[in-house]
Amino acid sequence: MTELVKGRFSRKVLVPLLILSLLATMSSVLAIMVRAEEAPVLPTFDIPALSEEHKTSALPNVIVVATGGTLAGAASNGDKTNFQSYRAGTYPMADLVAQLPKHKTADVSTYQFGNKGSGGYTIKELYDLSLAVDAALEIYDSAVVTTGTDTMEEIAYFLDLTVRSEKPVVVTGAMRPWDVIGTDGPANLYQAIKVAGSGKTKWFGTVVMLNDVIFAAREVTKSNSHRMDTFDTPMFGALGYVDDPAVRIYRAPARAFKAGTPEWATPFDLKTISKETLPQVGIVYNYQEASGGAIRGLVEDGVKGIVTAGTGAGGISSGLSAARSAAITNNGVVFVSTTRTGSGSVYGGSGNTVAGDNLNASHARMMLLLSLAFSNDVSQIRSWFQSFGTADVEISVDANTVLSTSVDEEIGLPELEEPVVTEPTPETEEPVVSEPEVTEPPVVEEEEVEPELQETVVTP
Ligand code: SIN
Repeated sequence: MTELVKGRFSRKVLVPLLILSLLATMSSVLAIMVRAEEAPVLPTFDIPALSEEHKTSALPNVIVVATGGTLAGAASNGDKTNFQSYRAGTYPMADLVAQLPKHKTADVSTYQFGNKGSGGYTIKELYDLSLAVDAALEIYDSAVVTTGTDTMEEIAYFLDLTVRSEKPVVVTGAMRPWDVIGTDGPANLYQAIKVAGSGKTKWFGTVVMLNDVIFAAREVTKSNSHRMDTFDTPMFGALGYVDDPAVRIYRAPARAFKAGTPEWATPFDLKTISKETLPQVGIVYNYQEASGGAIRGLVEDGVKGIVTAGTGAGGISSGLSAARSAAITNNGVVFVSTTRTGSGSVYGGSGNTVAGDNLNASHARMMLLLSLAFSNDVSQIRSWFQSFGTADVEISVDANTVLSTSVDEEIGLPELEEPVVTEPTPETEEPVVSEPEVTEPPVVEEEEVEPELQETVVTP
């Protein structure tokens, strides 16, 4: 009897207890797994501390984060005329900066992130690069990132979409290796440091500077395989220029209008994800009678997204279209539609196909890759493409916005306080206003006169 009671008691009490403890164990394991996903293990970087000299100097502190490319390239066989035969990513950045004249407008430090051609970097390495730039900007006022020019537009846009700091990030490179005659490397490096040190591109996101011209990362593309003025922004033009007397900015990218607001930052905070979760995304180019093989091959490779570089306003062949439908239905692949024309927008899109606006295919790929790393929801991805991807300018004014404009009254803003005008004291002499002397217009002789050329005085 006692045994029976004991048995019943143990079943009644112990079994639920056992289930409870099992559930508790499972939930704590689950919590650890979730935490592990929430807090990925982040890389660390040996960013140099500010030297004592730089700490006390009045100049801005600029760090050059070097990744290699032609700028750090060595001409083959030491031949100073080997413009296109060289080894990219050879010289360490500290040596290159040491060879520059002492910078007039910045104190310069260096961090060697890597030293190779731009095309050799994996997306996981770009994840590290972005975090390294942010780590450097915790110490320094601004950063120059040197890369090869081949995939510079993609690397720069990846940084633009992921770096969290509002401080200036200026990407530069060169079309000729460091050690040939007429190299553009030293001048580009010097000028990029000048742009970064000026602080004028703070809140702009990442900009690209080569050949004294400053471009927005989202808009810039390499347009020629060899020329030194290869970088161009087909629909938009430059943001500004750097000359001896000044860094001049003539227009701002759309995100700069959100400076200081929570909307300025993109949703792509890399510190919240592991680099292992960055998905594969490919690009497919449309052409006359293109088969669907390129899409099927990428799907087989495991891509989560594909950007199509379509003809005209984003058109793709019937072969690609059928392969796209199958990839969406069978594999849930997300597509972004862009144009192969080199400029112009693509609109529309429905279901798993998103319009890429005027992002070129390489830029759209980075935007899609990051979107897919942070969401599986196509409507969310579409909305990010329409906001961060499209970068449409919208100016909003609220009650707290302080405006200074000559048309204040017209737009109904509260009147500014009248300045206090003090009456002139008796001692103050009234200004004597004399009538301007009117001179007779010079008599123009009929005979032709060679105009006298004025000598231009150039001040250093
Ligand atoms: C590269 O992209 O690394 C090589 C080409 C260049 O830097 O111009």
